[in-house]
Amino acid sequence: MALPKLSLDAPILAQEKMADAVYRMTVHCPGIAAQAQPGSFVQIRLLGGDILLRRPLGIADADAEKGTITFIYRILGKGTSAFSNLCTDDKVNVLGPLGHGFSQNFKKPLIVGGGMGLSPLLFYAKAMGKKADVLMGGKTASEMFWAKLFEPHVSKAYITTDDGSLGTKGFTVSLLPELLEEGSYDAVIVCGPEIMMRKTAELAREAGISCQVSLEKRMACGLGACLSCSIDATDGTRRKVCKDGPVFWAEEVF
Ligand SMILES: Cc1cc2nc3c(=O)[nH]c(=O)nc-3n(C[C@H](O)[C@H](O)[C@H](O)COP(=O)(O)OP(=O)(O)OC[C@H]3O[C@@H](n4cnc5c(N)ncnc54)[C@H](O)[C@@H]3O)c2cc1C
Ligand code: FES
Repeated sequence: MALPKLSLDAPILAQEKMADAVYRMTVHCPGIAAQAQPGSFVQIRLLGGDILLRRPLGIADADAEKGTITFIYRILGKGTSAFSNLCTDDKVNVLGPLGHGFSQNFKKPLIVGGGMGLSPLLFYAKAMGKKADVLMGGKTASEMFWAKLFEPHVSKAYITTDDGSLGTKGFTVSLLPELLEEGSYDAVIVCGPEIMMRKTAELAREAGISCQVSLEKRMACGLGACLSCSIDATDGTRRKVCKDGPVFWAEEVF
């Protein structure tokens, strides 16, 4: 039975800058923290002001005991810029948890992530308790604060940067063929830019390994009611990323 979605005015417990224009925010919302699954997301609404629409954010961590959830977000426009100006003890309205998360029924998944796509993957790595390896990429070393965040939760971490300032120089997927051949992985779990997810899904398919992708679409309601996040699935049906996803088996959508 689907659990009810909760909407709570949640106090901000911590907000810190992680890199240029990237912030980590932790809020207290026990009901949502207790139900959150890696890959599910929430919709955040500012209280007061002129920004009425909610903004979707993946869950980077949830602690059911402390009743907290954490997001890591990049400033893109008006909404995320306003989030970054909030301080401890300000409140935001949190609706969630929303959508379907990643399967945790794998023995040894390879997590593949780029940019802010690494945020929900961090919660997944934690839930898998060191069973997973991670392949992560970004533009430059200053963006790769992710390496320290993933380190306690994964068995091995492979890093790429576009400029070679950390790890292997080049695109994240350039390391994939070798890893998929040698790593004895039973799944690939990917979130990041669409071009990276498509290439990852293609390489996983060629290697005969299951792959789950987490899609990102502009959203309004987040609840399956407005159709603004609809996509064409490979079987010819329409799917709503907010309700049927955001996590899909790669072959359902690519
Ligand atoms: C399920 C889901 C999970 C997400 N998780 C995270 C996360 O963990 N961390 C994070 O930093 N971001 C995440 N995002 C993206 C985040 O929701 C957007 O960056 C945010 O809504 C932008 O709001 P804004 O008001 O700052 O920008 P706006 O002023 O609304 O937009 C600024 C510009 O960005 C474009 N834009 C806005 N949203 C999107 C989008 N979803 N896709 C493509 N272009 C867009 C707009 O067209 C516009 O050009 C997620 C999105 C989804 C759908
Ligand atoms: S955002 Fe309204 S249906 Fe998905």
